[in-house]
Amino acid sequence: MSDIGADVLRMTMSRFATGVAVVTTIVDDEPHGMTVNSLTSVSLDPPLLLVSLMSGARTTDAVSRAGAFAVSVVSSRQEGIARRFARGGTDHFAGLPLEYGRHEVPVVPDALAHLECTTEQEIPAGDHVLYLGRIVRTCTREGEPLTFYSGSFGEFSPRDHGRINWFF
Ligand SMILES: Cc1cc2nc3c(=O)[nH]c(=O)nc-3n(C[C@H](O)[C@H](O)[C@H](O)COP(=O)(O)O)c2cc1C
Repeated sequence: MSDIGADVLRMTMSRFATGVAVVTTIVDDEPHGMTVNSLTSVSLDPPLLLVSLMSGARTTDAVSRAGAFAVSVVSSRQEGIARRFARGGTDHFAGLPLEYGRHEVPVVPDALAHLECTTEQEIPAGDHVLYLGRIVRTCTREGEPLTFYSGSFGEFSPRDHGRINWFF
């Protein structure tokens, strides 16, 4: 057992403000999805991203079986979607219009961005599994992002100090 408890770690990491996304996939014609904020850009060439999904969660098992998943970056108007896909044990897709990307993986309609991936590597990591996804298709649309900080959803307010060179 680690010296650092789950509550302390959760609270400490919650000081890192993030965006919010939904990871979706489909297995045996059944769509699955969960809200995540562990989304990380990994590599430009080849194009890779990473998500960290809790071992044993329905979506985690489904992503492993499908070998493909999509990431939908949630807009500030989609807090309801973020809450819906974070609720355990419910049918996350009930009553939602489904939109399908390449590989027939469902995506969240009207999201700020879609990133469709095939699983490049699956790495067990403690009580989570890291999925390195090779990005095969993207699209973006205009809008404001939903943010997550210290357990609360919020919005992004840019400062008017000029854009910075963020190509790294
Ligand atoms: C803002 C936010 C971010 C989250 N990020 C993650 C994450 O990165 N990885 C994860 O495994 N669960 C994350 N969760 C929890 C899952 O969304 C939640 O456990 C979900 O119910 C899992 O769905 P499933 O069991 O149907 O797969 C997050 C929840 C919220 C509200």
